[in-house]
Amino acid sequence: MRAVTVVPLQAGSVDLTELPEPPDSDGPVLVKTRAVGVCGTDLEIIAGEYGWAPEGEERLAIGHESLGEVLEAPDGSGLSVGDLVVAIVRRPDPVPCHNCSVGEWDMCRNGQYTEWGIKQHHGYARERYRITEDFVVKVDPGLGNLGVLLEPTTVVAKAWDHIERIGKRAAWRPKTVLVTGAGPIGLLAALLAVQQGLEVHVLDQVTEGLKPELVHALGATYHHGSVADTKVTPDVAIECTGVGQLIFDVMDAAGANGVVCLTGVSSGGRDLSVDVGLLNRRMVLENDVVFGSVNANRRHYEAGAKALADADKSWLAKLITRPTGLDNWKDAYTRQPGDVKVTLEFSGATS
Ligand code: BGC
Repeated sequence: MRAVTVVPLQAGSVDLTELPEPPDSDGPVLVKTRAVGVCGTDLEIIAGEYGWAPEGEERLAIGHESLGEVLEAPDGSGLSVGDLVVAIVRRPDPVPCHNCSVGEWDMCRNGQYTEWGIKQHHGYARERYRITEDFVVKVDPGLGNLGVLLEPTTVVAKAWDHIERIGKRAAWRPKTVLVTGAGPIGLLAALLAVQQGLEVHVLDQVTEGLKPELVHALGATYHHGSVADTKVTPDVAIECTGVGQLIFDVMDAAGANGVVCLTGVSSGGRDLSVDVGLLNRRMVLENDVVFGSVNANRRHYEAGAKALADADKSWLAKLITRPTGLDNWKDAYTRQPGDVKVTLEFSGATS
């Protein structure tokens, strides 16, 4: 079968190659891939900056934002042929650490987890895969190919889950949210905030086009310029760019008891001058919290699936700016201006 594969850490190695059918040892559920989403991690893997091949193999099939259709499922699995499913990215470490042992693999403590499509296991950018039923989640069939948005939605569902847990250290009545970055993660973080009835502000660089339109369509406020220009004092800030200056600016802008969640992975190597003493003073005197958030566990996939089922489908459809067929697979991995979410379509209707 065909798969998009790389030799990890080797730039220029990405290709559409043949892979053997998935082994039975991967699980009794057989899934036909409909589409995969492309994200910054895929582009980093393709650039040779990240990624690990399965043990004993040279190449890794990439793709961790999946959508597929069940072809075979055992009785009692809760899955039926034709179900639309999304597969979970991470698997618990084998030790396991105390988080992985209770299904909180997104909080793995020893780094020995595996991630399908990223770390030591083939991903979902292949025509078929096998999996165990506990690592697939059903999506609303009415979503059609929009179900491919579930994995990035789980990333923000986890961020929100943890923001709320932190907030509940005292009386928690958030009103205002600032999201920095109007890419897929920022827009989905804003969607979940709007669904909670919060006042949502989104900051990005662009001055016009799809991103401001999508923010307005949510009933949120769009800003460009600096964090200070927004004049917002957020109870919650979700930083989705990984840009150093913005990280410090949102920490500075957060209100008393503010919770700042960092979701962007920075590349590093840039110096920034910051008055740490002043920042510390402010964080201490206001009981602020800054935390990082990555990945998601099954609870977040279920929350994300519900959020997508409740969302306006025409809004979600606009997030997928470039559905790309397998014949033009290279285009899917080439960034273009105006991209929000690019998908690689393997099969099935685009709905
Ligand atoms: C994925 C996460 C993963 C992270 C680090 C992200 O792109 O969405 O599931 O944990 O990359 O590998």
